[in-house]
This record gives sequence, structure tokens and C-alpha cells, in this order.
Amino acid sequence: MKAVTLNAYGAPEVLEVTDQPMPVPAPQEVIVKVQAVGVNYADLLIRQGIYPFIAQFPAILPGEVSGIITETGSGVQHLKAGQRVTGYAPAGYAAYAAIPAAALTVLPDQVSPAAGLLTHALTARHLLEQTSGYRSLVITAAAGGVGSKAVQLAKIKGVPQIIALTGSAAKQNYVRSLGATHAINYRESDWLQQLTAITGPQGADLVLDATGGDTPAQLVSALAVNGTLIVYGNSSGQPTAVNPQELIMKSARIIGSTVYNILPEQRRQWSQELLELIAAGQLQSQINSYPFTDVIRAHSDIEGRRNTGRTVLSFPD
Ligand SMILES: NC(=O)c1ccc[n+]([C@@H]2O[C@H](COP(=O)([O-])OP(=O)(O)OC[C@H]3O[C@@H](n4cnc5c(N)ncnc54)[C@H](OP(=O)(O)O)[C@@H]3O)[C@@H](O)[C@H]2O)c1
Repeated sequence: MKAVTLNAYGAPEVLEVTDQPMPVPAPQEVIVKVQAVGVNYADLLIRQGIYPFIAQFPAILPGEVSGIITETGSGVQHLKAGQRVTGYAPAGYAAYAAIPAAALTVLPDQVSPAAGLLTHALTARHLLEQTSGYRSLVITAAAGGVGSKAVQLAKIKGVPQIIALTGSAAKQNYVRSLGATHAINYRESDWLQQLTAITGPQGADLVLDATGGDTPAQLVSALAVNGTLIVYGNSSGQPTAVNPQELIMKSARIIGSTVYNILPEQRRQWSQELLELIAAGQLQSQINSYPFTDVIRAHSDIEGRRNTGRTVLSFPD
């Protein structure tokens, strides 16, 4: 079978399309014929060696996939061949992937393999549940995978002020189309003034930051009294440079958040709710699909900030 492998950590060019043996299901695992790989920012961090998840080179890159079950291992009771599923695979960038059955979600008929990739939506849902009662919400990288889901879920939730920060004018238009009440290009020098003009002196109640570096430090100055900054990524590659002293006079707080800490029962419930929203057309993904042979371009486009919405690698039927 075809797979995307790497022999070393590095730039997108370390990714290669190679022939690999078909996976065999261990007990409690199933084999999925992969139709869509969701390219998540974490995949870039694994490839770069920032998340040192590769035990031995050469390795198939891990990843989130959707596809059709072709085989079940011993002990698998609740899934069968032919079902359409989504989940995270330890060797996911491949035509076929072995995945623990317990980690899979069954996709409804109306939901396509690409739209059914749930990591971004689950992350966004989790972020929006970390605090309550907020009226003014700021989202960085708002046109990206998690960001675009956070904008839509905040709109569904009825958050009155959804301020989307993005890196280009085209992305500003995109986030407005998703329901952002305001869109700011935070590559413009006066972006922070634009933001404070929108929130007024009371500031922002909740900020979701995916970028790290200087941006969250500046956003702390825009927080409301009792406001919260949630740090959940650093796509700039720079550490989040916030001075905790600046929180004191606002009784503000900074918290971290990861999708991996959602409890299994909560994850199951949210996955079902999100799939219902997707099936009803209320939660949309702008799908940017690349043939799996174009994996280097897909990774480069995200690294170069040219992506919007959901980046997907497609494998032929
Ligand atoms: N904690 C969790 O559970 C969790 C789960 C999923 C993802 N994440 C993290 O959340 C972040 C977003 O993930 P994603 O998959 O949704 O990716 P994404 O937002 O679709 O892509 C990354 C975006 O980051 C923005 N960005 C800002 N500065 C950048 C820079 N210097 N270089 C490259 N990009 C930059 C770009 O948007 P603009 O041009 O609009 O700024 C870019 O499009 C990542 O840091 C990821 O690791 C965390």
C-alpha cells in the first residue's frame, strides 16, 4: 500500500510517498481503508520533531483519518467491516491504517469523510466550555482549522461579540461569512487599537490563542476584568511570552487546554452533537483537498499561512 513516511525530522521535504506492507489488526483494533487524512497543525510539529512522537525511523506519519472498516481484529464487538468511521491512527498517513476500535466514531451517512474529521471541532467545543458567561470573545488564527470551528460554534452558542483575528484580507472575508461579528488582520500594525476600539474600555472576556509568541502578550492588555486567556497552540513556533504580573490588576487568568484531556464520555457526547450539526449543515468546513501525493504542498501551505478551514489529503477509492 502507499503511505507517507519520513526518515528524519525536518522541513516538509522530508515527507516521502513510499510502498509499505499492509497493516494487520491487533486484538481490539480494526483496519480502516483511509479516504481522508485531516492535516492538523500537530502533524507539522511531529514532522519537525517538536512533538517527538516517532519511536523509530522510517515511520508512517501519525494522523487523523476517516474511511471504511475493511477488517476487525479479535475482540472487536461493536464495529464491523463496511462501517464509515473517523479517529486518530498511530500510522495514519497511509492507504490503510490500524486503529484501536475504542478510539473510533461512526460517521452518519450524510457526513463526508473530510467533513467528519472531528479534531478541530472537538478542540473548539472544549475551548468554548472552559469558562462561561462571556460576551466578548477573541479568536486568533480564526480562519484556520480550530479557529473556523470556534467562530461557528460561538455563533451557534449566541456569543454576542465574536472578534476574529486572521492574517489576510481574504481570511477576514472568510471568517465574516462564518459568523464573526468583527474581523481584524493582525498583521496590520494597529490591530490592537482596532480590537480595543471594538471591545471598548471593558475589554474582552475570553481570548483563544493558537499562535504563541508576542500576540497573546498583547492580547492580555485587551482582557476584561476577570477575563480569561486560553493558550492552546503556538503556530508561530515561539513560546507564549506573557508577564503574569499583568494579570494582577485585572484578576485575569491564563489557562492551557488540550483536546487530549477531554474525558471519553464527554468526547463521545460532543462528537455525536458535532456530527448532528455537521449533518444539518450548521457546522461547515471549507475543505481544501490535496491528493496524498501532494503532501509536501499541503504541509507547506499551512506552514506558510496560506491555509483556510480544513486541509485534507485524499486517497483514491
Ligand atoms: N490544544 C489542543 O488541543 C489543540 C488541538 C488542535 C490544534 N492545536 C493547536 O492549535 C493551533 C492551530 O491548529 P490548526 O490545526 O487549526 O492549524 P491552523 O490554524 O489551520 O493553521 C495554523 C494558522 O496559524 C496562524 N499563524 C499565526 N502565526 C503563524 C506563523 N508564524 N506561522 C504559521 N502559522 C501562523 C496562521 O493563520 P493566520 O495567517 O490567520 O494567522 C495559520 O493558518 C496549532 O498551534 C495547533 O498545534 C491545539
